[in-house]
Amino acid sequence: MNQRKVVVLTGAGVSAESGLKTFRDSNGLWEQHRVEEVATPEAFQTNPELVYRFYNARRQQLQEPDVQPNAAHQALARLEQHLGSNLTLVTQNVDDLHERAGSQQVLHMHGQLMSARCVASGIRRPFTRSFDATTACTCCQPANQLRPDIVWFGETPMFMDKIIVAVTQADLFIAIGTSGQVYPAAGFAQLAHESGVRTVELNLEPDIHHPYFDEHRQGPAGQVVPQFIDELIQTNA
Ligand code: OAD
Repeated sequence: MNQRKVVVLTGAGVSAESGLKTFRDSNGLWEQHRVEEVATPEAFQTNPELVYRFYNARRQQLQEPDVQPNAAHQALARLEQHLGSNLTLVTQNVDDLHERAGSQQVLHMHGQLMSARCVASGIRRPFTRSFDATTACTCCQPANQLRPDIVWFGETPMFMDKIIVAVTQADLFIAIGTSGQVYPAAGFAQLAHESGVRTVELNLEPDIHHPYFDEHRQGPAGQVVPQFIDELIQTNA
């Protein structure tokens, strides 16, 4: 069986139906904050309490019983079962809903809520509860502070080399529920297009951006993603 290589990029829209707010759908506010207020190294320097509090709240919200993976996350987990390592799933989301739906290989290019990172060594570890400036790391002697394991504006997203290779060598690139406003992720569609890769956009809004998509399907991720993925699987991707 000669399966095609597929790269999927997901954004906040894929988790919207799971009860997590997107970034730009409420006048640029994310849970009542401007993104710059809570998602920059400068914010962490000038107002660390707010930044810790904000991510503690997001981590807590993610563990509320009604926040569960939706049909879009589940469809992408099915696609991984079908394609194995021919699927590269890249997410800008810091939630763990892809994993909870069953995806095993997820590249969290903007980091993860359920993990903490030592400010000195950069070593990360799973972290489910709240923490702040007084929470010590376990990797250094003497201990250092932990920070949210999030890539803030001005910092370099993770896995970039791997993602760029996957995008340029893919047969199909699918962007799901992302506004395409934050680079470098916003540039992947163009990169794919210029590499001769077929590009598809699945989004709630009608054709929102770029001439770089060959196909656009409009609708909530919980509906359009399973539909699209099932078609892909049936035609043996
Ligand atoms: P945005 O909030 O910018 O965009 C969400 C997109 O999802 C929009 O295009 C919506 O139309 C679409 N959408 C909303 N509900 C949907 C649904 N039910 N089904 C399908 N699509 C839906 O979120 P991102 O593009 O993910 O970075 O934002 C990118 C980055 O900006 C984030 O990773 C975050 C933020 O600053 C960091 O925190 C580092």
